[in-house]
Amino acid sequence: MSVADPWKSIQLVQGDITRQDVDAIVNAANSTLLGGGGVDGAIHRAAGPELLEACRKLGGCDTGSAKITPGFKLPAEYVIHAVGPRYRDGQHGEAQALASCYGKAIELAEAHQCKTVAFSAISCGVYGYPIESAARVSMRAVADALSRHEYPNQVRWVLFNDEIYGVFAAVLKELEGGGL
Ligand code: APR
Repeated sequence: MSVADPWKSIQLVQGDITRQDVDAIVNAANSTLLGGGGVDGAIHRAAGPELLEACRKLGGCDTGSAKITPGFKLPAEYVIHAVGPRYRDGQHGEAQALASCYGKAIELAEAHQCKTVAFSAISCGVYGYPIESAARVSMRAVADALSRHEYPNQVRWVLFNDEIYGVFAAVLKELEGGGL
C-alpha cells in the first residue's frame, strides 16, 4: 500500500545529516564512492573507516544511481550513496540524473525495509546545481517515488544552512499547493 498523499510524508529540517537517527541517510557521493569533501566527507568521518572499506567493495556507482552500505558508527543503520550530476547548463540531462538518483535511493530504502530516510541536498554544493531547481526536481522525484512504494513512509531533507533551508521550504510549499 503506497502513501495516499506523499507530500505529507516529506519534512525539511536544518542540521547535520550525520546526527539523524533514521533508518537510512542518503549521501551526496561521487562515482568512485571513495569519499570526498562536503557531506560525503562528514559521513565518512562520522561512520568511521569501515565505511570506506565497505565502499571499496562496491566498484563505484554511475551518476544517477545509488548503492547502499551499513552505517557503522552512524546513528543510521544504512548509508545510501547517491551520485548526483555535476551541473553544467541544464541542457545535459542534469535534471533526469538528479531525479534518477533520488528514485534509486527510494528503491534501495524499500528493498531494505527502511521506514525513515534522511536526504542531503544532492548536487547542491560542489556539483553546483542551482538550489531552487534542484529542490523542485528532487522533491518531485521523491513524492512520485513515495506514491509508488510502500517504504519509506517518512522522509526528510537535512539542510545545512538557513539559505538552502529557505529555498527548499519555499519550493515545498509551492509543490504541496499543487504548484507546477
Ligand atoms: N549535513 C547535511 N548537509 C551537509 C553537510 C552535513 N554534515 N555537509 C555539507 N552539507 C550540504 C552542503 O552544504 C550542500 O548543500 O550538502 C549539500 C551537498 O553538497 P556537497 O557535499 O558538496 O555534495 P555535491 O554538491 O553533491 O557534490 C558531490 O562533493 O564531497 C564531494 O565526494 C563528493 O565529489 C563529490 C561531490
